[in-house]
Amino acid sequence: PPVRLVDYRPYPFALDHVNLEFFLEPSKTRVRNKMTGRRVFGEHALMNLHGENLKLISIALNGHILPENQYEQTDEGLNIHMPAGEFCLEIETEISPEENTQLSGLYMSGGRFCTQCEAEGFRRITFYPDRPDVLAPFDVRMEANKEKYPYLLSNGNPGKSGDIGTDRHYAEWSDPHPKPSYLFALVAGDFDVYTDSFTTMSGKETPLAIYVDKGDYDRCAYAMDSLKRSMSWDEDVFGREYDLDVFNIVAVRDFNFGAMENKGLNIFNAAYVLADGKTATDADFEAIESIVAHEYFHNWTGNRITCRDWFQLCLKEGLTVYRDQEFSADMRSRAVTRIKDVIRLRARQFSEDGGPLAHSVRPDEYARIDNLYTATVYEKGAELIRMLRTLIGDTAFFAGLNRYFDTYDGQAATIEDFLNSFQLSTSENIKEFANWYSQSGTPVVTASGVYDSIARTYTLTVGQRTEPTPGQPDKLALPIPLRTALFSNKGRRLSTKLNGEINDEHLVVLRDFEQVFVFTDVSSAPIHSLNRGFSAPIKLKDGLNDANRSTLAAADNDPFAQWEGLQTLARGLLIDLASNEDGSMNDRIHAFVDAIDEAFTAAIDDPAFASLILRLPSVGELIQDQNASDPSKFHAARLTLKRAIARHIENSLVATIQNQETGPFDPSASAAGRRALKATAIDLLSSLQNEHAQRISDNFHSATTMTEILASMNALGNIEGGGAEGELFDNALTVFEEKWKDSALVMDKWYSVQAMSVRSDLRARLQRLCARTDFDLKNPNRVRAVAAAFAMNNPVAFHAPDGWGYEFLTDIILKVDGLNPALSARLATAFENWRRFSSDRQIHAEKQLRRLDDANLSKNAQDIITRALALS
Ligand code: ARG
Ligand code: ZN
Repeated sequence: PPVRLVDYRPYPFALDHVNLEFFLEPSKTRVRNKMTGRRVFGEHALMNLHGENLKLISIALNGHILPENQYEQTDEGLNIHMPAGEFCLEIETEISPEENTQLSGLYMSGGRFCTQCEAEGFRRITFYPDRPDVLAPFDVRMEANKEKYPYLLSNGNPGKSGDIGTDRHYAEWSDPHPKPSYLFALVAGDFDVYTDSFTTMSGKETPLAIYVDKGDYDRCAYAMDSLKRSMSWDEDVFGREYDLDVFNIVAVRDFNFGAMENKGLNIFNAAYVLADGKTATDADFEAIESIVAHEYFHNWTGNRITCRDWFQLCLKEGLTVYRDQEFSADMRSRAVTRIKDVIRLRARQFSEDGGPLAHSVRPDEYARIDNLYTATVYEKGAELIRMLRTLIGDTAFFAGLNRYFDTYDGQAATIEDFLNSFQLSTSENIKEFANWYSQSGTPVVTASGVYDSIARTYTLTVGQRTEPTPGQPDKLALPIPLRTALFSNKGRRLSTKLNGEINDEHLVVLRDFEQVFVFTDVSSAPIHSLNRGFSAPIKLKDGLNDANRSTLAAADNDPFAQWEGLQTLARGLLIDLASNEDGSMNDRIHAFVDAIDEAFTAAIDDPAFASLILRLPSVGELIQDQNASDPSKFHAARLTLKRAIARHIENSLVATIQNQETGPFDPSASAAGRRALKATAIDLLSSLQNEHAQRISDNFHSATTMTEILASMNALGNIEGGGAEGELFDNALTVFEEKWKDSALVMDKWYSVQAMSVRSDLRARLQRLCARTDFDLKNPNRVRAVAAAFAMNNPVAFHAPDGWGYEFLTDIILKVDGLNPALSARLATAFENWRRFSSDRQIHAEKQLRRLDDANLSKNAQDIITRALALS
């Protein structure tokens, strides 16, 4: 049965202190857990402790061994009969970290001990009230072999340490900030340690350290720099200071997610820590900066104030993603960051929201908590914070946030607590805004306007509608803030009056299903530019024609709106191209290419933005609102349009490629922008197939940055000439492998490039990849490098009409599930939109989903498959 929000009950016991002792051995680790606390309310003397995969050694209550009739052990854990008042409960268990392939709880990675406890991993370490509303200060003592595990780390501040006999040693850590169990962390092993320090706003010097695999010392500088910039930004922008004596980051190679914000001891997937000019792409640098910031920002939004229950996950995640997005916008180009955030939201969240896995930002039930770490909770959750700020203004926003920090510091809070903090700080009524948290689906907003040249008014009619989603047949109208400007048909921004205010941009807030807004003092017939900056996470049907859009694309001073004008043009064109093969669209293609050329030329001094101007909507994005779709048609349409663009600006693209990098590697946003443009040029030229194949191959061999090397390999992977061109890809792969075979993270890229290539031999190639000895099903990065890259980023092949792509993914899911259910469930989400495809594809997808359904998979995977198969 699912877990329901309405069933929430406070825990009847409070913990005053937790004392943990670990005797670390890979096969048999002893855990002594001493909890002191008291019953705070309730008649029932039964204390429920969660536990999973634990061997119970002993229980003592108030100093006495507990007789067996005083407790019962269940599938879920322990129920203990407790006396009234205070207690001291001591439980000893044994676990086997080396057998833990789920990577939840305490496990081994690369010969080191590490943990992942969010959401429910702590119960795999000891019996405990493993729920986020039970907070306690923790003291930890670890004991291990000294030579194998010279570094012993946990949360909080370091305490005593020393030798035990000849070959063992111990260390103590103590975390004064009460925390829930999901923030617990422990690490033991041998590392390279990259150190630095940061002086906080109150003048406290704080040592910082990053622990990485031996030999990776030189790849830590960027993560450390990101950390220091994050610490200082959080002080400057949110007034939040760090609160412990030390801050540590550990990179591990086997990790299910990006990273984890454990108090004072963040644990990262090594892919989001390690970078240098030779091995990392600019996208890697960008991801490292944003994830380091994200985990650090959790110290306040997540750790100091945590979630009452997992339904409130967006309370910490949405807010923290919003904070990391703002950080990236301040560190890089705000416009480019915003556009990338929107691309990501559309690719991942809109598709989730439009399919069988749709759920609200704060759902009211779930089957498996691991499956709730979604684009909706994270990315849409961040959009809600941004919208709230737009609705109530900066002053009320920061006043509300400060009130939230002041009121709930040290507590486990809810979305209601959060919103109430803002309501007390603004005169706007934000009651209806709460519906954004409970209603799933992406609103479709339509707009149309009428100009009255005599009255000089523009009457804008705006409507909203949200399609039904699973469990929610009827939808409410939501408050939708639309930043709106009017332009003359010559592209001049008009100053107009709305609600008594004269301005060249207004905030139109749509609150009903349909509403009329009358702009006055409108000097000429306008073109409306709506949802500027993507002020609301909606789908817009703005009623403009292509000519209006081209005008906005050329004239709009909001870079997002300008980019969006071109994207909308491209979307319409690609969708029509995909269903129309008679070549009658040449005029529209020409007009589009001219518009692109004009915007591209205007943007050329900002290469990062210019490269986004040249980007076409992805196949994944195009199929979202289609039914019975055939991804290969959209792929072909994109290729047609890419060719037209490439031909039109061919000389300029060739010149861009020939610009060689000089000087030492520079990871800055501006240097990355130049490389992004180069990568886009390579991609566009590859659409002309073998014409530029040799040039791209030469570029592969001469390039000095991973961004360019990868862009060239990707491009070669999509060129399949009859002659030598076809071999350029394999030659590049051989050279690359020879050079990087010992670097796992770089080899992940080698796997992905192949999994994303559009070639006739792909199936055999994937089979070869999976048969290699370095294809390790226990390493999530490696599995994702093949399976997720293929299923999520190669729609043409994954949705092959004969179903081989579905079968390939299913085979991997079946193999992975027994080892790592969080990973197999994540891979299974690739099926989420199977009903959008043509009927032949649906038959094959359903066959594979049934195969998975019959296979008795983990609860995590089963939850995804059941929902994917459900008839709404
Ligand atoms: N809280 C972590 C973060 O956002 C992610 C934890 C993921 N855990 C999970 N069970 N999916 O940084
Ligand atoms: Zn997070």
